[in-house]
Amino acid sequence: MKQIKTTLIIGLGLIGGSLAKALKAAQLGGTLIGCDRDQSEIDLALKLGMIDQGSVMATDWVAQADLIILSVPVIAMETVMQQIAPYLRADSIVTDVGSSKGSVLAAAERTWGQLPVNFVLGHPIAGSEKSGVMAAKVDLYQRHKVIVTPAPCNSALAIQTVTQLWEACGAEVLTMEIARHDEVLAATSHLPHLLAFSLVDTLARQDENLEIFRYAAGGFRDFTRIAASDPVMWRDIFIANRDAVLQALGHFEEGVARLRAAVEQSDSDAMLGIFTRAKSARDHFSRILDNSAYIPMQNTLIHYRAAPGKALSGRLRVPGDKSISHRSIMLGSLAEGVTHITGFLEGEDSLATLQAFRDMGVVIEGPHQGEVTVHGVGLKGLTKPAGALYLGNSGTSMRLLAGLMAGQNFDVELTGDASLSKRPMERVAAPLRAMGAVVETSEGGRPPMIIRGGQALKGIHYDMPMASAQVKSCVLLAGLYAQGETTTVEPAPTRDHTERMLTGFGYPVAREGASATVIGGGKLTATDIDVPSDISSAAFFMVAASIAEGSDITIEHVGLNPTRVGVINILRLMGADISLENEREVGGEPVADIRVRSAQLKGIDIPEDQVPLAIDEFPVIFIAAACAQGVTRLRGAEELRVKESDRIQVMADGLLALGIECTVVDDGIDITGGTLQSGAVHSRDDHRIAMSFAVASLRSQGEIFIEDCANVATSFPGFVELANGAGMNLKVEKVEG
Ligand code: S3P
Repeated sequence: MKQIKTTLIIGLGLIGGSLAKALKAAQLGGTLIGCDRDQSEIDLALKLGMIDQGSVMATDWVAQADLIILSVPVIAMETVMQQIAPYLRADSIVTDVGSSKGSVLAAAERTWGQLPVNFVLGHPIAGSEKSGVMAAKVDLYQRHKVIVTPAPCNSALAIQTVTQLWEACGAEVLTMEIARHDEVLAATSHLPHLLAFSLVDTLARQDENLEIFRYAAGGFRDFTRIAASDPVMWRDIFIANRDAVLQALGHFEEGVARLRAAVEQSDSDAMLGIFTRAKSARDHFSRILDNSAYIPMQNTLIHYRAAPGKALSGRLRVPGDKSISHRSIMLGSLAEGVTHITGFLEGEDSLATLQAFRDMGVVIEGPHQGEVTVHGVGLKGLTKPAGALYLGNSGTSMRLLAGLMAGQNFDVELTGDASLSKRPMERVAAPLRAMGAVVETSEGGRPPMIIRGGQALKGIHYDMPMASAQVKSCVLLAGLYAQGETTTVEPAPTRDHTERMLTGFGYPVAREGASATVIGGGKLTATDIDVPSDISSAAFFMVAASIAEGSDITIEHVGLNPTRVGVINILRLMGADISLENEREVGGEPVADIRVRSAQLKGIDIPEDQVPLAIDEFPVIFIAAACAQGVTRLRGAEELRVKESDRIQVMADGLLALGIECTVVDDGIDITGGTLQSGAVHSRDDHRIAMSFAVASLRSQGEIFIEDCANVATSFPGFVELANGAGMNLKVEKVEG
């Protein structure tokens, strides 16, 4: 960062004044000089000790300043630039706080011919309805975003200095291009203000006496609060950001026209479509704001402090099966008719699938307490989404959707979060290409994926190189759109929910040993789906009750598809006391209540044929192994290395940190049972790692600190409450990053 002996702040309002206070508090910026048109504001700032010197004439100080901050209304920027230009030193760093950036750039270009290399544009997203020096607050920028919009000509030192300046005031600095900044602000700030001003004005004109407002309730108040903002400032903003605002307004008018037509024609489906999409977007936004979404948008991290608990007891029900929830939305959307789903998993992963289909025009009501109603559009009824389909952390969404998208007549881009962006997609891209699809992956065969529409697919016979239900499902789903027969042959049995559910939707699947075949060109007919509880989520409680002495729990309504029961088989081999009660079949899937009582576990060699049947449960099986007598050996599990994290290495790191001896090999691990010590572990972006170490605390000597656990929301919302209710002792710690 450039050394700054003198800082000049031009414009001492709320924004400039707060910056002065924050810089003083951070002991940054050297001598602070404040300039303002209003002498009384300067006097006040001097009296309050916010600045060291003050003047109504900025020009007197420009040559001395190492850093100059233009904090005047956007409309006044050009005048100020022209005043300071003759005195500005080439090495002084300049920045501004204007809320539209294109106009400030244009003003600078008119003033200097081109943007000076040391002039870096910025915009703090902070404010208040109050104004003036009196309203200035030292913490106005704490945990607020500041958007810095560097231009290609800017010097690295200037960008770094401006960034560090804001960071020193406690802000989170984001970088954006100038045009993008103006578009984003036009849509998220300027347009809502315009609408609020306009609505209130329109209503007030209709009713000269403002009588109508007497009847207005919360909805009106919420919608129009911002119509009480500063009129002059907003006039200036609409002049400065005219083009981007008009563009946003144009999109909005198209949206209103669509809604108007739906209302005129009493088009119930169209209205439901608009309202359910809007509601889900707003709910998602609320989750982001209160930090319950797994992506920490507010820079807040969630950690667990897991202390030794007591014996587990009682009956509990874990959330719906993730694999079945994904497929229920996919097949329900592509069916003809209305599909009702109960027990749907309201986790971020399955919600990502749900949102993807909404983005492709499917009307989906809910989820509300696990109930979802999908208004199917038929196999050919999807429409092109407005942008890329964002699938968060969910590998299942991306791989299964890739198969379905290959059969559409539009192009789609599939993207995901940092963890999903590292996962291999070539395993689905290769067979899809063999079917005639055009699939582009990014470097190393990773996401984002682009799938080109309008290709004629042909059926293939695919011998799968790895035991993966996602690959199998992807190929079979593409097969629905392909000419002729599509057959998959798996090297070992993997979960067969796709095959079962296709059959449930009336689409024939011919199954023989390891092969499954569909013939393209059929149709899906809507049906009702009752999603059982997820055995992968139940597994945490199976291990928990097994290792916590004196435990006796019953986990209700768990899906026991034979391709998923590896965890029960393995734990039983280790000596676990697990019994099944009330066995029944629900919607084509076997279901039972699982009773687990604690038992002394012993180390075993895990049979390789159980690996695909327990593929998601190994992190918590490793915890069982750590608590068992003797050594547990796992081999043939290289697939664990390409899950949400490298589950062999990440678990080994955590177990070692807790004093458990283990040896990692390429395709597995040896774990020697021992005494779990207290310590700190990291989830490495993986929900199942976080929950597994929470379970480990039941047998640890002291607290286990588990870093970064927000991702648990991807598969198991309500995990902490359920675990604590059963006898565990987990505390959630939110930390501002
Ligand atoms: C899943 C298949 C498995 C599993 C994943 C869900 C599915 O992945 O790990 O959590 O729903 O088809 P692979 O196909 O990569 O083994």
